[in-house]
This record gives sequence, C-alpha cells and structure tokens, in this order.
Amino acid sequence: MKGIEALDVTGKVVLLRADLNVPLDGTTITDDGRIRASLPTINSLRKRGARVLITAHLGRPKGDSFSARAAGGPSLAPVAARLAELLGRPVPLAADVAGESARSVAAGLTDGDVALLENIRFEPAETSKDDAVRAGLASKLAALADVYVGDGFGALHRKHASVYDVPALLPHAAGELVLAEVAVLDRLTQNPARPYVVVLGGAKPSDKLAVIGSLLAKSDRILIGGGMSYTFLKAQGYEVGKSLLEADRLDDVRQVMADASARGVELVLPVDLVGATGFAADAAHEVYPVTGFPADREGMDMGPRTRQLYAEKLADAATVFWNGPVGVFEFPAFADGTRAVAEAISKLSGFTVIGGGDSAAAIRRLGLPEDAFSHISTGGGASLEYLEGASLPGLAALA
Ligand code: 3PG
Ligand code: MG
Repeated sequence: MKGIEALDVTGKVVLLRADLNVPLDGTTITDDGRIRASLPTINSLRKRGARVLITAHLGRPKGDSFSARAAGGPSLAPVAARLAELLGRPVPLAADVAGESARSVAAGLTDGDVALLENIRFEPAETSKDDAVRAGLASKLAALADVYVGDGFGALHRKHASVYDVPALLPHAAGELVLAEVAVLDRLTQNPARPYVVVLGGAKPSDKLAVIGSLLAKSDRILIGGGMSYTFLKAQGYEVGKSLLEADRLDDVRQVMADASARGVELVLPVDLVGATGFAADAAHEVYPVTGFPADREGMDMGPRTRQLYAEKLADAATVFWNGPVGVFEFPAFADGTRAVAEAISKLSGFTVIGGGDSAAAIRRLGLPEDAFSHISTGGGASLEYLEGASLPGLAALA
C-alpha cells in the first residue's frame, strides 16, 4: 500500500476520504477524537501545497433522496466548524456532496486550503448495494479531484462509493491514519507478546462472534463484559432477568465456550452484576451475584467483585486489546465497570490497544490520559474485521 508521499499533490485537488463520524448531542460534538486523528494527513497534504477536499459521513441519515436526508440531517456543519478551529483556518462546507456547490467549493480552493463536502450519506447511492448506482456517484466525486487519499480507517469495512469505488478512478494512496492503524493491528496478529489478554464488551455477541473465533486462536485470555456478557451467562444457565439477550445466539455462544476450553484459552465472565429497575440514568440499582440475579432486573454494569477479578486478569498482560464498554458508562451510576477496566489497562506497561469509538470515547469521558495507552484506534467494526482476517473493501481498493 502506497503512502501519500508517493503521490504528486502540489497544486492538485486531493479528495480525502476521512472518518469524521463523531458522536453528537444535538449539534454539539461530544468527542472529537476522530477529527483530531485526521489532522496528520490533512496537515501533511497542506504543507505540500495540496488543495484538500474532504468527503466524510456522519451518522446514518434516513430518507429516499438527497433532499429528504439533507432535511433530516445530520449535517457536517459542526464538524467543519471544529476542524476549522483545530486547523486555525476556515473550512468551507459545500451544501451538497457532488453537485453544483461541491464543484464551486472545489474550484475555489487554492494551494494549502481545506474544504469539506456535505455528509456523503445524504446521497443514497453512497451505500447502495448496486455496483452501478455507486459507480454513478463515484464518477461525480472523482470528477471533483485529481487524486484520492483514503484515510477513513473506521469506514474501511464498508463497500461504499467514497471508500471503495472512487479510488479505482483516480491515482490513490493510503493516509497516515490508515497506515498507523494497520501497523498496530498487524502487531496484534503477528506474534503478540504474551500473555495476550482481550476484553470484549458492547451490546451484542452477534457483532463479535466472528472475531472471537479468530481471537481464540491468538490470545491467552478473553474477558467478556457488558451487554454481550448476559447472553454468555444465560448460556451457562444463569438468570439474567431483563438484561440484553440474544436468545438466538445461545448455541453459538456455547460453541465459543467449548472452543475456548478446547484451545486452553481462559474465558472470563462476570461473577456479579449491577441490576437496575430499568434502563435510565437514575434507575434504582443493587449488586447481585450472577447466581442470584432477579428476574425483574436489568444488568447495567459489572459488580465490584467482577471489577477486581478483571483487574487481576489484566495485571500480567503484555498485550491487551479492548473493544466495547463493559457497562452503560454514559450513565455515571453505571460507569464503574468501564472505568475499572480502563484504569487497569492504563497501568500496564505492555502494548495496549483500545479499539472502537465507544471505548475510546469512554476513556476520554472518564478523564483518563490518552497517553496511558499505546494506541487508541478510531475504528470499531473496521478493527474487528481486520483482526478477524477479513478483507476490508476500503483497504483492498487502496492496494
Ligand atoms: C463507525 O462509526 O464505526 C464508522 O464511522 C462507520 O460508520 P457506520 O457503522 O455507520 O458504517
Ligand atoms: Mg460504529
């Protein structure tokens, strides 16, 4: 894969696909990590006199047409404003993706300028499963630029027009973020220092079953927490009350447990849980052992014995990969488990990688210093699919 130094960019319009999909509260950005992670490539292109035209998505807009989606939002306007602040210079935002406004913004760029196209997912063609439909949008995007740089690591697992189809039409290279992320993930898959401990949280086992399969072959210990742990506990015969459950995945989860024991990988599950009366920040809650969880409660976090157990299971790790919060950390009353995992990992001197927008946001929201971790990845699904050994469409397109 070529890096940007292999491209001639001076005086050229560079279409840069970035992942600026940040969490929003209304129009307020609650975590700007992905915007900051995009800066090295933007700055290095600017320094070489490129005219940087950025395309990115935000959220999953709904509607059948550009106008319906643009009316419903979210617009990239808050992202353009934040990017302008970080760069210390204006970042104009085109009102469309590849139409008249985009053409005029592109034509107005001078060397070293940066501009943003409106949310690429306002164009339904971006995510179409029909190759010809995506190709139509891709050719309009390609017509705006001279060269293409793929730096949207978090979206590389998507076979979308701006990720997969445009690079085929222009001279292209991988951005610095993509190269850095791939180098870290390669270090996790090729000869990781041992013990290699994985912490998997997040809502659904179904999202993670494929990666668990490949992690079983590489890691020494897997700690399961958060929403997905209830399906594992249920598969072991425990009551999980009203907790998140993927009842149709119980057999798959049992198979994972059997594979783990056959391979000698230690699979660790919570021993106690914080159960609440409902899913709310102020819900009444208590700690229950997994052997005595009430049928009318909902699991919201790991209990104190589990926090201690997980900290112990992390203490000797030489390599750690953590993906997914282990409780509903957005509610302060249920953030202790996620904080305990983050703190335990932050104390390690080995190679520690945090994957996934939610875990990365949790670290920053809990106020832990980012430099206490070796790498905080901008990609959730993309990292998991890469670790699984899947071919990512966006990476294949940059090869
Ligand atoms: C992400 O947030 O994981 C990436 O930006 C990809 O977004 P998506 O899951 O909506 O495709
Ligand atoms: Mg996501």
